[in-house]
Amino acid sequence: MEKASIQKYITTPIYYLNGLPHIGHAYTSILGDVMKKFEQMRGNGVYYTTGTDEHGQKNQHSIEASGLAADEFLTRQSDNFRNLFVELGIDFDYFVRTSRPEHKKIVQEILQNIYDKGLIVKKSYEGLYCEGCEQFKKKSDLDENGCCPDHKAAPKAISEENYFFRLEPYRQWLIDYIKSHPDWIQPAKYANEVLGMLKEPLEDLCISRPKSRVWLGVELPFDHDYVTYIWFDALVNYISTLNYGHNPDFETVWAHSHHLIAKDILKPHCIYWPIMLHALGVVPVEHYFIHGYWIGEGGVKMSKSLGNVVDPAEVVRLLGVDALRFYLINNMTLGGDSQISVAMLKQGYKMLANNIGNLQMRVLKMVQKSLEGKVPSPAALNEEDKALVNDIAGRFERIFGQEMSLETVSELAESIVKAGDAVNAYFAANTPWVLAKNPAERARFEAVVYTTLECLRLIGLAMYPLTPATARKIEASLGVEPESFKADFKPFALPEGTEIKVGDPLFPMIEE
Ligand code: MSP
Repeated sequence: MEKASIQKYITTPIYYLNGLPHIGHAYTSILGDVMKKFEQMRGNGVYYTTGTDEHGQKNQHSIEASGLAADEFLTRQSDNFRNLFVELGIDFDYFVRTSRPEHKKIVQEILQNIYDKGLIVKKSYEGLYCEGCEQFKKKSDLDENGCCPDHKAAPKAISEENYFFRLEPYRQWLIDYIKSHPDWIQPAKYANEVLGMLKEPLEDLCISRPKSRVWLGVELPFDHDYVTYIWFDALVNYISTLNYGHNPDFETVWAHSHHLIAKDILKPHCIYWPIMLHALGVVPVEHYFIHGYWIGEGGVKMSKSLGNVVDPAEVVRLLGVDALRFYLINNMTLGGDSQISVAMLKQGYKMLANNIGNLQMRVLKMVQKSLEGKVPSPAALNEEDKALVNDIAGRFERIFGQEMSLETVSELAESIVKAGDAVNAYFAANTPWVLAKNPAERARFEAVVYTTLECLRLIGLAMYPLTPATARKIEASLGVEPESFKADFKPFALPEGTEIKVGDPLFPMIEE
């Protein structure tokens, strides 16, 4: 990694690998890829990581239940994530695995550093431990049945000696940091949630687990009977990836870091992590982008027993990668939860087929039939034609003129649909299939076809971050596929005389 070539460092959470990857994991990793491609089109170098979190009690229990050797189990499970992400067209630069020795070494160096500063103390502790969260719980965290509200299981009473990292001395610093950096945690709703968590004094964070209970973890460098708490280990992935402590370019890259996470892991990311970094003398991440949850159609939670789980691999087989990517970005409500089902995904697919796919096929066939397969002349474009092209080009130029954010990518999806609607309305109103038959209308016919093709070219370019394969097909069909996609929306750039290619439909009919 060369620092000069990296203007953005984007990360996703690293996922627990005790189960199979699901739509939520696929979403965050697709979102990161969309942001990467968006920034690359703006001319920025991006380093993008995603991966798997391979320690802790939950993973340990899955290994024990599998009967496999730990390494074998972890590699098999991690590969399920990696292979799905590759299939989804996710162009990660590095796939994190916390079981790698390079990562573990840096976790130990950091633990030693903080220990040597006198910030870690050993004491005996009695508490209620939720295995699902891998966290001690306060009574006030539990529901009316005394269960963890997220895992619906009663935490176990545990009494043991452990090491603790004091958080309270940093609380005021963190409050001030959040207040003085209003766009640090986006959307602002979640910054307020974090401020809410900081109203009460912070309890010491238990950063160790005795090996007698948890053997799958990074050993404490100062006490071999313990491994470190999974979150202390997992959060460090964001800087161990950059070879923290051994990389002279670390600060430059880290200064442009962006964490994508869902609302479920706000506390470790926005409270523990900045405090850990502060204790190390490292500045916080530049931005957090926090999204809501995908839930089933009708607002019910997805569950196997309800049969409403959306399996990303199955959706890909049914509808292809791009329809899934587009749906996820187009339908996530900012700052809230969003619904998904196979039926809703099919609707999204049909929308793309009608809006973009049919338009492209109709106009290309017209060019093939009546224009010898070549882009016609733009000489006779009238004010309406020019206004449509300029409007679409201007809209995309404005969007790509902004920095990536959750708002920007959802605005991009929306603007693609709107542009498609506008071109369809224009095409229907100008009836080029009627003009084609009348030699006296030849110039007008050519102008309408040119306008439509040029709009499609601009739409195809703008689609690249969301639907890279479709974008390539559109540009290739117009004979102008670029080697790498750039956010250059200069209008009227489709050269007259370019040979078009009528390929397969972008979104062929699907079986119901
Ligand atoms: N291993 C920790 C993260 C450590 S990061 C230093 C973990 N893993 S997880 O497998 O539970 O993944 C949580 C993340 O998966 C969420 O923050 C989000 O990115 C994604 N999602 C999981 N379920 C989701 C939905 N239903 N909807 C949207 N995203 C979801 O927490």
